[in-house]
Amino acid sequence: MGCPPVSASWPLKRWLGLGLGLIILQCITLGCAQEKKVAKSKVGEKVGLPCCYKIPSSESLQNYRVYWQMNITDVVLAYSGEKKIDEHPRYINRTKMDFQNLTLWISTLEILDSGPYHCIVQSLQSSPDKPGSHLLCEEPVTLFVTADSSEPNIEREVTASSCESTEMVVRCSSHGGFPKPKIYGVLNNVSVVLNTTWESESSLSPYNVTGTLWLNVTKDINFTCFIEYDGFVRSTSLLLAKANDCIVSTALPSYNVITASSIIIITFLLAISLAAKYFPRHACSHCSKNQDSVEDHEKESMDPLKSSKVTCEMSSL
Ligand SMILES: *[C@@H]1O[C@H](CO)[C@@H](O)[C@H](O)[C@H]1NC(C)=O
Ligand SMILES: *[C@@H]1O[C@H](CO)[C@@H](O)[C@H](O)[C@H]1NC(C)=O
Ligand SMILES: *[C@@H]1O[C@H](CO)[C@@H](O)[C@H](O)[C@H]1NC(C)=O
Ligand SMILES: *[C@@H]1O[C@H](CO)[C@@H](O)[C@H](O)[C@H]1NC(C)=O
Ligand SMILES: *[C@@H]1O[C@H](CO)[C@@H](O)[C@H](O)[C@H]1NC(C)=O
Ligand SMILES: *[C@@H]1O[C@H](CO)[C@@H](O)[C@H](O)[C@H]1NC(C)=O
Ligand SMILES: *[C@@H]1O[C@H](CO)[C@@H](O)[C@H](O)[C@H]1NC(C)=O
Ligand SMILES: *[C@@H]1O[C@H](CO)[C@@H](O)[C@H](O)[C@H]1NC(C)=O
Repeated sequence: MGCPPVSASWPLKRWLGLGLGLIILQCITLGCAQEKKVAKSKVGEKVGLPCCYKIPSSESLQNYRVYWQMNITDVVLAYSGEKKIDEHPRYINRTKMDFQNLTLWISTLEILDSGPYHCIVQSLQSSPDKPGSHLLCEEPVTLFVTADSSEPNIEREVTASSCESTEMVVRCSSHGGFPKPKIYGVLNNVSVVLNTTWESESSLSPYNVTGTLWLNVTKDINFTCFIEYDGFVRSTSLLLAKANDCIVSTALPSYNVITASSIIIITFLLAISLAAKYFPRHACSHCSKNQDSVEDHEKESMDPLKSSKVTCEMSSL
């Protein structure tokens, strides 16, 4: 019973959808999207900015006047016929215009080259309906010049350490990026906000960025730092190990114990071997044997023998 009204509303919805689709299609074909023409390149590289007119191969630039402008009114490069009539000092030796499709090539790009450009094409030839020179077309294009930010570098500094935890400051930095980069960290899959500072000479200069994190590490943790600028992402990882003070404090005494006991054992062994060499054997030989062997020994080493001789005589008493 409630079904017919619902189905009756379907065609209306369809028509509305189709109408909207037609408007969007019209926008695309008639150039609504043209307003947003964008070119992107990097510092030091070369870029071609497209114009709105292509000179037919049967003709030459001779009958045209072309202006490439920036910031609405500043002339970057201008031609009247095949003759250069104007050039911006900042672009000298860095620009070239294609004489057929009027593309403006800019080389050794600088961040300052970023901005809104447009080309204006005029015809110098009169036509029956348009006497004198007249505008053929005008089209804007926005240029974005980006600069690569360096691979993020992670440094850490332990500020306090105990058996249970290690307090540390972790700093992640990257330099030379443009536009202003974003920085964030991930601790074992969990993203963390870094206390971020940016340094730059001006809003149109490369940025140095540093993100800082204060951590209390109770077990080894994997830290990854991400730098994001203009859709590019670069990252670096570092395993933040807990400084294990417990092992360090027990390892040191055990090392001392080993050293001390080694010294005692070595001294003891030396003492035994010395005693064995001079004491019992000599005592026995001196008491029982003749003086010759004693004299032989005396030639080799005098003092120990004398003393052993004394003890020998004493023992024989
Ligand atoms: C213009 O011509 C140059 C070659 O001369 C070509 O590289 C460039 O892609 C062309 N640009 C357009 C927008 O057609
Ligand atoms: C466009 O404007 C920016 C910022 O004001 C300036 O730095 C740049 O030199 C201008 N470009 C030209 C071609 O004048
Ligand atoms: C442009 O190039 C010419 C010839 O290579 C050179 O003499 C001139 O100094 C250059 N000008 C600038 C502003 O770089
Ligand atoms: C971290 O992410 C990886 C891949 O997304 C997953 O395999 C792993 O289990 C995650 N670890 C933790 C501790 O969530
Ligand atoms: C970030 O660091 C600055 C300077 O060290 C400090 O003043 C500020 O409170 C910190 N912010 C946060 C959220 O930790
Ligand atoms: C950015 O870092 C680089 C390299 O560390 C340094 O040479 C430069 O002076 C820094 N720039 C600013 C604006 O601090
Ligand atoms: C770090 O953790 C330890 C043990 O969990 C705790 O005693 C200490 O107060 C913590 N330090 C900070 C700065 O949170
Ligand atoms: C740390 O995490 C990153 C990204 O999740 C991964 O590529 C890397 O292998 C991990 N390193 C260690 C030591 O677990």
